Formats: sequence, C-alpha cells, structure tokens
Amino acid sequence: MLSDVQTHMRGRDMIDTQDWTREEIETVLDVAFELKRQRALGISHAILRDRVLAMLFFYSSTRTRASFEAGMAQLGGHAQFIESRTTQIAHGDTPKEIGEILGRYNDGIAIRNVDWGLGNAYIRAVAEASRVPVLNMQCDLYHPHQALADLMTMIEKLGDPRGRTLDVSWAYAASYQKPISVPQSLILLATQFGMNVRLVHPPEFELMPDVVEQAKENARASRGSLELMSGFEDGFRGADVVYAKSWGALLTTTDEAEGAKIIDQYQDWITDGRRMAMASDGAIFMHPLPADRGVEVTDEVIDGPQSAVYDQAENRLHAQKAVMALTMG
Ligand code: CP
Repeated sequence: MLSDVQTHMRGRDMIDTQDWTREEIETVLDVAFELKRQRALGISHAILRDRVLAMLFFYSSTRTRASFEAGMAQLGGHAQFIESRTTQIAHGDTPKEIGEILGRYNDGIAIRNVDWGLGNAYIRAVAEASRVPVLNMQCDLYHPHQALADLMTMIEKLGDPRGRTLDVSWAYAASYQKPISVPQSLILLATQFGMNVRLVHPPEFELMPDVVEQAKENARASRGSLELMSGFEDGFRGADVVYAKSWGALLTTTDEAEGAKIIDQYQDWITDGRRMAMASDGAIFMHPLPADRGVEVTDEVIDGPQSAVYDQAENRLHAQKAVMALTMG
C-alpha cells in the first residue's frame, strides 16, 4: 500500500530536486532500489500499463532517451520520441500549446531543452499548462534525473552518503561549452543528503550564485558542507568520490569562440591515475557520460577498477522508473 508521501507524488513535476523534500527523494530512491531488485529477479512490474510518456528532445541524447524509453516499456507503458528536427516543437508550437495538447494525449511529458537562459523557463511554462506531470530530461540549469542516479550509485558503492567527501570538479574538454546543469543538480542533491561537497573549478567556471547559496543552505540543514576550491588536485585529496566533468564558462561568456579560448587555458585539468591515487582508498570515479576520453579523463581511470560510470548510467533507468511510477501511477 502506498504511504501518504508516495500518494502525494502523483501528478507532481520533477523539474528541480529542490522542489522535492528529502523524505520524498528517499521514497524515490527506495522505489528505484526495489524496481532494480525486481528487474534482477525477472519480476514484472507493469505499474504504468496503457500510460504514455511524450519525450520532447530539442537536443541529442543517448542515455536519457534510451533509459526513459526502456523504463516506460518495462513499466508496461509506451514512450513517444518527439524530436525537434522532424516536428514543429522548435517553431510554431508554443509551450502552452505543448502542455495543453500533449497533456491531453499523454500521461506525462518529459523534455530536454538546454538552451541557455531559455530551457528551464520553457519546461516550467509547459508544466504550467499541462494537466500531467512534466519531467526535466535536462535543461540549462538542472539535470535532476542524472543527480538521482548519481546519488543512488553513491549509496550503492559507499553506503550512507552522510559525511562522505564528494569532489565535484570542472575538467577540460575540447568539444564545446557543456551545460552547467549536471554540477548544479549534483551539488544541490548531495548537500541535501549530508555529503561534504567540494566544488572545484577555475575562476571563469562559476555556477549560478543562487544555486551555490541553495546548496550551502542544504548543507547547513543536513550537517554536510559545501567548500569552494580552485585547485584541481586539492579536490582529489582524501575524496571518496571524484566526479570530474567539463562545463562551459557560461556565466563568463556565451560566445563559443571566447569560451573555447578560456577552456584551452586549463588543458591539464584531466583525471588520471596519479591524481586518483590522491583520493581515499576505495574512492570511485563518476562521470555522467559522454566523456571526452583522453581529455577530461584517461582511459586508465574511466575503464579502471575505480570507475562507476556503467553502474551510474544503469541507475538512470531505475531512478527514472521510480519517478515515473510515483508521479504517473
Ligand atoms: N548523461 C546524459 O544525460 O547522457 P545523454 O546526453 O546521452 O542523455
């Protein structure tokens, strides 16, 4: 039987984990672990039979698309893949129309829109007009389902996350100015769960000040901590989790060429075996993927025994199934 907390989640949006209490997120994790256990045992859990999720992609994706789609099928429902190149969602259809119309066809609407300064506002506008839950598959500010899978993975690998040291570090990438949504959601959720979080980056790669303030407030409430650091190697020392990935200098410049010039100054910010050896015994390496191999992280580390990246990617499936089962059930 569903508890009051679980029942209360029906119809809820998952746009930013800050909108959910710690107790609610603990329920999501409990359900995620249970669905993972049932899948391992081959136990069917068609909780969302006849339900349909619309998945709107304004940007490309591998893990997010595949895990939401597989998750809906495993829950007995169906996921529609709606991407911007072959539909009208990027021109003509307003967020209000998307919320109204797709909310009448479907039982949930999931959206990826990472347009800087627009993505989160778009998702919130769709949610305002929708009669069904809206799930954020990554926007310019947050990637809540990635953070839920990250927390689930840390609990699996380390046990109780309280008091554990998490190094959330910027890393060099040659490809492009990546969104800041992964580190923002991660510092918010990890501080909500009492972790000692180090946020490590060069000066040009700040996260949004109000998000950092929210994370500090979370840490005060959970008796965790948030420490801001600028030395790449300092972040590794004694850490239980090294989560080093690139993000753009988006609060410094949104110009791609200027951003690339800033990024190029920090080519030595790469996770390698020598640096991982500075972390605690049994430390794990995490990355949401895709990684720029040989640039952000060496093959030795990402393919090595400390790497948790495949379990982390798998847990996207279980965490998202839990959110869908609780909100769309
Ligand atoms: N980590 C993640 O969101 O991967 P995709 O961009 O491939 O969905």
